[in-house]
Amino acid sequence: MKKFQGVYIKNEREIACLAEANRIVANILDAIGDMIAPGLETMRIEELALDCCAKYKVKPAFQGYFGYPYAVCCSVNEQVVHGFPSARKLREGDIVSVDMGVVYEGFVGDAARTWPVGRVSEDAMKLMRVTEESLYVGIDKARAGNNVYDIGAAVQWFVEAAGFNVVRRFVGHGVGAKMHEKPEVPNFRPAFRGITLQPGMVIAIEPMVTAGTYEVDILDDKWTAVTRDGGLAAHFEHSVAVTHGEPRILSISDRGLGRRIISA
Ligand code: MF3
Ligand code: CO
Repeated sequence: MKKFQGVYIKNEREIACLAEANRIVANILDAIGDMIAPGLETMRIEELALDCCAKYKVKPAFQGYFGYPYAVCCSVNEQVVHGFPSARKLREGDIVSVDMGVVYEGFVGDAARTWPVGRVSEDAMKLMRVTEESLYVGIDKARAGNNVYDIGAAVQWFVEAAGFNVVRRFVGHGVGAKMHEKPEVPNFRPAFRGITLQPGMVIAIEPMVTAGTYEVDILDDKWTAVTRDGGLAAHFEHSVAVTHGEPRILSISDRGLGRRIISA
């Protein structure tokens, strides 16, 4: 595979496989979104995801990745990312982030969304709306000729203007035959410049946004990232191909973008 500044440039066939992998992920996220309700055990989300993988004849991408035990990450409230599905029941007022990846024909699809559980507070709704919108603000910078760090700068500016913060500890990433490829795609403006985006690069943009501090801690399970101050966190992720024209979002389901919240 061709490389530019260490980043793989995908050809048409490879982009087509990534698009299919991500379409499947987005369809699975649609199905998960439909079942989110007060009383749902988060392990049901894992089970649905595994059933869907069987139906689509794909492999879950996360299970076994550096020993991660599950097909999905389910992160509730102050959990930022990499939460384990469990016997925990979702409660009215919670927010839940689900991150899902599959491998199709050797290529990885990767996307995430956050949902309200029943009725949630105005603050929680705003956090989710701003996080989702910040993802599209970042995607708009995923254009050939831009620097990869233009994405993070735009995300950070948007999020902070809304009074929230972006997590520094985890970043987006190139995605292809491996889940994590070069380049890193931070959701903030780093101290040094990154690579220049080229047509054929595929990146996962995934802002993690917090109501309070952006500092996170990792629980004793070695995975679950939680906000240090216990404040809420939201997470939205799309895999995006850089083209000669508009950014091409690959994680689009058969229902459409899955963008439920459009701010003015
Ligand atoms: N979307 C996450 C990421 O890009 C999912 C990784 S979870 C893991 O880093 F368990 F697989 F690591
Ligand atoms: Co990712």
